[in-house]
Amino acid sequence: MILVTGGAGFIGANFVIDWLAATGEPVVNLDKLTYAGNPENLASLANNARYIFVKGDICERALVDALLTRHHPRAIAHFAAESHVDRSIHGPAEFIRTNIEGTFTLLEAARAYWNTLTGEQRDDFRFLHVSTDEVYGSLGPHDPPFAETNPQQPNSPYAASKAASDHLVRAWHHTYGLPVLTTNCSNNYGPFQFPEKLIPLVIANALAGKPLPIYGDGMNVRDWLYVGDHCAAIRAVLNAGQVGETYNIGGWNEMPNLTIVKTICALLDEMKPDPAGRYERLITFVADRPGHDRRYAIDARKIERELGWRPAETFATGIRKTVRWYLEHQDWVAHVQSGAYREWLARNYGARQ
Ligand code: NAD
Ligand code: TYD
Repeated sequence: MILVTGGAGFIGANFVIDWLAATGEPVVNLDKLTYAGNPENLASLANNARYIFVKGDICERALVDALLTRHHPRAIAHFAAESHVDRSIHGPAEFIRTNIEGTFTLLEAARAYWNTLTGEQRDDFRFLHVSTDEVYGSLGPHDPPFAETNPQQPNSPYAASKAASDHLVRAWHHTYGLPVLTTNCSNNYGPFQFPEKLIPLVIANALAGKPLPIYGDGMNVRDWLYVGDHCAAIRAVLNAGQVGETYNIGGWNEMPNLTIVKTICALLDEMKPDPAGRYERLITFVADRPGHDRRYAIDARKIERELGWRPAETFATGIRKTVRWYLEHQDWVAHVQSGAYREWLARNYGARQ
């Protein structure tokens, strides 16, 4: 079996569902259930005997030790993190705690556990750390995309905390020999993404007839990766990645934010027309994010060359599936738009008008 951390969040939940469907190998999911963790994401596994949920904090060493001893996983896939750049600007402390101290705690627990293993079990054990392209900093318009060899130049508190965790993972391999793998991926989108991130926020606001907030001039560029493709990439790295190596994972889909938002509006015009007019009328330019990285782009040739992975979705196919999923899961959206979510909207957007 494998131990997943953060499996009740957006990517983690997609990964757990995808993993059980693709491999059938049991999963223990350790998740603190912060505002971003939602057990409803895993409701489809309620009667699955191969899935075990444990509510808890990755910073709690005794808990992690107990889980490793009890379940004896052959791998740890580490997704748990504070993951939203805007929240890291308003309050970085939790990012330092979970992303840095939490990863440190897991590494130490994994090292102690790995040292108890022998023979094939010891050789086969893997610690897979899920990270982000944001650790590489920001690109100019003509720079080549991020390769694994790029220096890390994080700019936001979130990116700095993830870069710190990448360094810890690297050092635990170099110093202690822990068999680690690191993946740095671009912006994910797809089912179960919390509606504070650009794509689900725009879908939810459009359907509610609310403004679609675009930071700055809307020309910041991101690479967009469909979450199902990301899950397949992580499986490939876990199966055949070379220990100690880093793999960049991207969708080959570089696009400015304004194009993303207009694409969503056009899909909604087609799938759920609004009698009041075209959704684009709701686009509203607001004050920029402080230190807003201008461009991210991923060179995903290494994972293709070494592991044969390439994204199956184009942006056109992935975004269509995503918009359809949100239209069909309005209850899910309504449930996560709790009081805490409304407080966040007031805090983040109140001062941007
Ligand atoms: P998310 O915020 O949706 O989910 C994070 C999950 O971690 C939640 O279920 C939360 O409850 C859990 N968690 C937080 N703190 C915890 C703690 N101390 N102990 C245990 N569980 C805790 O995040 P996501 O978008 O699914 O991202 C998953 C991983 O992928 C993160 O490491 C993130 O940095 C990385 N990543 C995400 C993206 C993206 O576009 N979403 C892009 C690149 C990298
Ligand atoms: P986001 O989804 O927060 O991901 P990240 O900051 O990790 O890339 O934002 C994606 C892009 O969209 C980023 O350039 C910021 C921009 N953005 C807006 O223009 N308006 C919004 O309301 C949000 C949440 C993001």
